[in-house]
Amino acid sequence: KTVFADGNPKARVMIIGEAPGAQEDIQGIPFCGPSGILLDKMLAAIGLSRAESVYISNTVFWRPPGNRQPSREETSICLPLVEKHIALIGPRLIILSGGTAATTLLNNEVSVSRLRGKFYDYSNIYLPAPIRTAVTYHPSYLLRSPGQKRLAWSDLLLFKKLLEES
Ligand code: URA
Repeated sequence: KTVFADGNPKARVMIIGEAPGAQEDIQGIPFCGPSGILLDKMLAAIGLSRAESVYISNTVFWRPPGNRQPSREETSICLPLVEKHIALIGPRLIILSGGTAATTLLNNEVSVSRLRGKFYDYSNIYLPAPIRTAVTYHPSYLLRSPGQKRLAWSDLLLFKKLLEES
């Protein structure tokens, strides 16, 4: 299935993940499988929910066979749609969840561990002004490496602080 978006399109926070997995492909909803359950818990920990305060989409709208990482060609094909999608939603904060979203949107090859912990000004041709953007670990990585949840928690607190200030 095409898996486009979920959550509140009027939300101040837009999360961009990697690509649909098996559950998402069946249901047509982003982050509705195991990593989505963790994502919802992480959001709830800072008072956010996809029903009210978050809008969720992906870097690629179709499941790569066997859950492999999307190729450069696949992310490039979807990128103009993602850029326009961001401009239509106009969030206050963009959270790039995992390396594929970070590499594609920030257009660099730097690891999540080096990109996280600060904010970037994201721009594209459709945006009248840059949008504050941060990078954090993907929930499926946190399910495989629970030791990194401590760092993800400090990222969440940083996002909360920004939202409280703005
Ligand atoms: N992982 C993602 O990056 N996106 C989804 O929608 C599901 C799992």
